[in-house]
Amino acid sequence: MRLIFSTFILGIFLGCSGPDQAQKLSPKQAFLDSLLNEMTLAEKIGQMSQATGNWEKTGPVVTDPDMVDLATRGKVGSFLNVFGAARTRSAQELAVNQTRLGIPLIFGYDMIHGYKTTFPIPLAEAASWDLDLIKRSAEITAIEAAASGLHWNFAPMVDIARDPRWGRIMEGAGEDPWWGSKVAVARVQGYQGDDLSSLSTIAATAKHFAAYGAAEGGRDYNTTEVSERTLREVYLPPFQAAAKAGVATFMNGFNDLNGIPATASELLVRQILKKEWDFQGFVVSDWASVQEMTDHSIASSDKEAAELALIGGCDMEMVSTTYTEFMEELVKENPTYISYIDEAVHRVLAIKYDLGLFQDPYRYSDPAREAEVVLHNDHFKHAREIAKRSIVLLENRNQTLPLNTDLNRIAVIGPLADDKETPLGTWSAQGRQEHVTTILEGIKLASGDETKILTAKGCEVNSSDKSGFKNARSMAKQADVIIAVVGEEALMSGEALSRSDIGLPGVQLELLQMLKATGKPVVVVLMNGRPIAEPWMYENCDAVLETWHLGVQSGPAIADVLFGSYNPSGKLPVTIPRSVGQIPIYYNHKNTGRAYDPTERYTSQYIDEDHLPQYPFGYGLSYTEFEYSNLVLDKSSFHAGESISIGVDIKNSGPVSGEEVVQLYVRDMFGSVTRPVLELKGFHKTMLAPGESQTIHFTLGAEDLRFWDKDMKFSWEPGNFKVFVGPDSGDLLGADFKLL
Ligand code: GLC
Repeated sequence: MRLIFSTFILGIFLGCSGPDQAQKLSPKQAFLDSLLNEMTLAEKIGQMSQATGNWEKTGPVVTDPDMVDLATRGKVGSFLNVFGAARTRSAQELAVNQTRLGIPLIFGYDMIHGYKTTFPIPLAEAASWDLDLIKRSAEITAIEAAASGLHWNFAPMVDIARDPRWGRIMEGAGEDPWWGSKVAVARVQGYQGDDLSSLSTIAATAKHFAAYGAAEGGRDYNTTEVSERTLREVYLPPFQAAAKAGVATFMNGFNDLNGIPATASELLVRQILKKEWDFQGFVVSDWASVQEMTDHSIASSDKEAAELALIGGCDMEMVSTTYTEFMEELVKENPTYISYIDEAVHRVLAIKYDLGLFQDPYRYSDPAREAEVVLHNDHFKHAREIAKRSIVLLENRNQTLPLNTDLNRIAVIGPLADDKETPLGTWSAQGRQEHVTTILEGIKLASGDETKILTAKGCEVNSSDKSGFKNARSMAKQADVIIAVVGEEALMSGEALSRSDIGLPGVQLELLQMLKATGKPVVVVLMNGRPIAEPWMYENCDAVLETWHLGVQSGPAIADVLFGSYNPSGKLPVTIPRSVGQIPIYYNHKNTGRAYDPTERYTSQYIDEDHLPQYPFGYGLSYTEFEYSNLVLDKSSFHAGESISIGVDIKNSGPVSGEEVVQLYVRDMFGSVTRPVLELKGFHKTMLAPGESQTIHFTLGAEDLRFWDKDMKFSWEPGNFKVFVGPDSGDLLGADFKLL
């Protein structure tokens, strides 16, 4: 530690006294340069290696012999899955006090939607269309993590997903690059704030770079074949937005992209990320993805895997140990590799510097602050706010909802009605069941004292056993209304959790059909990590709420919507297919040369399935009605450098106040390459009282109309465009304009 301290002082001195202005180094650069010069090759390789802590918490101090060995011998510069103020302090002391240079460790963890206070899964939050609340979830995650000894979040996951069979669709912001980019920035800013050394911010990670969500068949880890144009049009924008927002790290994807594993992709990492985007942070592999290049059959040995990853720009190896085992040998054989190593180590040390770890390695490991901030009541209040805004009202026949709080009898039926695990969703970090308020608990809290709540599971989530139907039917027949809570368990989506069928598992659909046959109104509360294809449910039940997995405050948030204390405002960030056979199905598709025409056989369609999805991107109902009218452009044509203003009137013509997400789309009618039939380019979420009208304004410029043209230049092209505004991608007012 003494050496680090003296180097730190030296760095400040050099930074302030360079020979002349041109060569004057910042204190940070001077410190990092002088530290790097001190390091042996073995110490440098240690900083490029990350090990995992033992998965289970083994007490307040690190006693695991392997971890002690790794930390005290400088074999790693980072651990993942080591958390808690006491344990991280214990591990940090090993590294700082027992290694030659005392370089602090950086602790990373997956806090995809919360650390201990668990928020809605990211796909749910994306349905809120509330960037401030999405950012706040990330801020609170950082506050809790930074008080618990954690420095680095392996989030946000920014992979675009167009295939709901893919289990990790729950982890991102859905199918749209524009909206995915906005959400990515909100989350990066939430985690990192504007000062990484603050005690309430942590480093973030844009993952999984890149096109991991394009896995063939929606099967996790599968091959991805994506043209460079589609890569740059669809999958890269959220990553570029995150990089531009200053995200501290990137993580490689597991996938091979067009034949090259992302972990070794010089195109992705060296060309696009580090050169084109001038990314200054560091790149970490995904769990053993370096060593897995032997499985990809692109490396004939672990040593070659290490070499490919190093050349490909991977700065830190997670969990596998090819860097530790072979890097010295590789450098002996190829001395020029030391430049790659110095670059990687410099990037890693720079983030540790920005976090303030060289000034005080223990600053984030503070048991007192941990006890004070983690699971704070204000965090639960936020959890409820973002959860209720993430709910999407899909159906509400005969104004079944909102329910009166003075109903005599409500039957709450279904396998997820009183489940404390499922609302946490997958990737729930340190979220625990005891922190969860279930749907049943939420309904009991919200309903009137006179209301009798009847309940029955009816069936399990994923079983063929219907023996519970009898009791469920009995409860249902006694009730004024049935609330059926069905869907997927937490671990039916997420990593390595793809499904070949995206309907309701088990006999849940039959449960709904039995309940509907009682003649009572059936309100479906759907809990799921991906779009569920189940036409009968959507088309026959009286009301359907898409509630995803909403975290610790699932129950109160859903009750807020059920009983009308909150008018649902969520809008789908993903298309909901009618069947798995429609996949891939997404709103920003190409027109083709034979666009669907129900009157013409020889057009693009299925003979055994509808052409349209169950619900389109951007769809969501309200307890009130919004009328759109008077779409007006301030000009019919404009030049690059100018802009066009778009105005639309929206009126709340219904009985209650409500928020509406007004969406703006464009269509480029002709281009040097085929263009999507719609592209989201803006939105406004606005509250209107009953009878209130507002005029919503948008502005577009040529820069908003850019795309990767036939020469792979990112630019606009003059021509005819349509602009559209409406409540979702399937219900739009349109107008024409020209870009000159
Ligand atoms: C996992 C995931 C990645 C995560 C990492 C560390 O396999 O793919 O998203 O951050 O390993 O847990």
